[in-house]
Amino acid sequence: MEIIIQPTPEEAAGIAARIIARLLRDKPGAVLGLATGSTPLRLYQMLAGMKLDWSRVTTFNLDEYIGLPREHPQSYHSFMRENLFRHVNIAPENIHIPDGNAADIPAFCAVYEERIRAAGGIDLQVLGIGGDGHIGFNEPSSSLASRTRIKTLTPQTRRDNARFFGSEQAVPHHVITMGIGTIMEARQNLLLAFGEKKAAAIAGTVEGPVTADNPASVLQFHPSVKVCLDEPAACRLRRADYYRWVFDNKPAWQTW
Ligand code: F6R
Repeated sequence: MEIIIQPTPEEAAGIAARIIARLLRDKPGAVLGLATGSTPLRLYQMLAGMKLDWSRVTTFNLDEYIGLPREHPQSYHSFMRENLFRHVNIAPENIHIPDGNAADIPAFCAVYEERIRAAGGIDLQVLGIGGDGHIGFNEPSSSLASRTRIKTLTPQTRRDNARFFGSEQAVPHHVITMGIGTIMEARQNLLLAFGEKKAAAIAGTVEGPVTADNPASVLQFHPSVKVCLDEPAACRLRRADYYRWVFDNKPAWQTW
C-alpha cells in the first residue's frame, strides 16, 4: 500500500485527481469504478475542471440504495449526475450504476458483474471508507470474497448517512453494492479518507489484521492500492512518519 498523507483534504484530493487524470490521458478508454458520499466530492469537482476527455471512458459505481427513485436527490444516480457526469463529456451508455429498483435484484447483480467483465475489468476503483471500515457498502462481517449483491446497512451507517436524508428513519435499510471480491479485482484501488472520524478505520485498514470486522483491511492483499489521507484521518497510524518520508522521497519517475 502507498500511504499519502497531506495537510488538508484539498491537497489529498488534488493528488487523487492527478492520478486519475494521468490514467485518462494514458488510456482514453479506461474503466473507472466510482464512489459517492462526501469524500470524493472535491475530487469530482477537480476532475470536472481539468477538461479531460471522457468520451471513451466507462464507469461503474460501487453502490445504490434499494427502493429510492432514481430522481430522488439522495439517490446515487442523482449524486453522480449532479457532481460529475453533467460536467464532463461522458457517453450516457458508458455509465453504470446499480439499479436499486430492479425487479429481480440477484439477476441484476449477476448482469452488473458480467458488464464489468465485458468492459475489460476496472482499471482504477475510487473508494471512500465508512467509520466502521466498510468499502462500497460491504459492512463489517461481509464475506471478503463477496460479489455484487444486496446488503443491509448497519445502524451506524444509517446514522452516519442521516445527514444527507434529514433523519435516520428516511435512510433506506437495503442497498446493492459491488462485493469485496469485485473491488479486489480492480487493477488499482484509490482510497480516500478525510477527518478524524475515519482515523480508527484507516489505522485498521493499513496496520491492523486483515479481518471482515474492518472490511477495508482486505486491501492489504491487493497489489496496487493508494491511500490518500488528510492529517486527521492519518492520526492513528503508527508508522505515519515512515509513510511521509517515503512520499517525500519518491523517485521522479514514480510520481504523477
Ligand atoms: C459510497 C460508498 C461508501 C462511502 C462511505 C463513506 O459509494 O462506497 O463506502 O464511501 O460510506 O462515506 P462519506 O464519504 O460520506 O464519509
